[in-house]
Amino acid sequence: MRPEIEEVLQTIEEEEERRRQEGRPSLLCVGRDGGRLLHLLVLLRKPRHVLEVGLSAGYSTLWIAAALPPEGVLTTVERDGEKIAMAKNNLERAGLLGQVEILEGPALLRLRDVAGPIDMVFLDAAKDEYLDYFRAVEPLLSPEAMVVADNVLSHRQEVEPYLAYVGRHPSFRSFTFPVGNGLEVTLKGA
Ligand SMILES: C[S@@+](CC[C@H](N)C(=O)[O-])C[C@H]1O[C@@H](n2cnc3c(N)ncnc32)[C@H](O)[C@@H]1O
Repeated sequence: MRPEIEEVLQTIEEEEERRRQEGRPSLLCVGRDGGRLLHLLVLLRKPRHVLEVGLSAGYSTLWIAAALPPEGVLTTVERDGEKIAMAKNNLERAGLLGQVEILEGPALLRLRDVAGPIDMVFLDAAKDEYLDYFRAVEPLLSPEAMVVADNVLSHRQEVEPYLAYVGRHPSFRSFTFPVGNGLEVTLKGA
């Protein structure tokens, strides 16, 4: 990890801790363990196009973008303008903004503007919309795409329709990792 990226990750973790102590809203980051797993998966799969749904301050975005191959791009969707400004600043300081395209607005609307093929997806916006996000991009997934979903243990009830869909779909194999709030890793064509 380049030192400037690690520095920005630590700044976001410190800001999250300050918010917790002051009772301010959390940035709801995937956490260091989840970030490291995302980073590893990107290093292993070398996706050319990653889609993230739920940017917040860009913590998970940094972990993913930092592992992309040189030609790789990450498209991310976020509806909150203040968080987008924060994330842009973080990505710029880390030297990663050039590989990231940010789409502002409600995910289900903005996903219509995403072009395929998509090699990897990270779902981390509204938990009860995961299945809708997945269905919206399913036709764009490349033959060996990977979809990672956060909060599958912390928000089990909300994400249940999504887990049931990918769990029963004949084209996908799905695995739950008890890392952070629970990450579901779903592989197409495996
Ligand atoms: C859990 S946070 C994302 C955290 C980020 N992935 C990370 O780990 O650093 C969820 C984000 O999704 C955004 N969000 C929630 N519902 C959304 C929707 N329907 N459309 C777009 N963004 C949404 C929220 O504003 C919030 O910033």
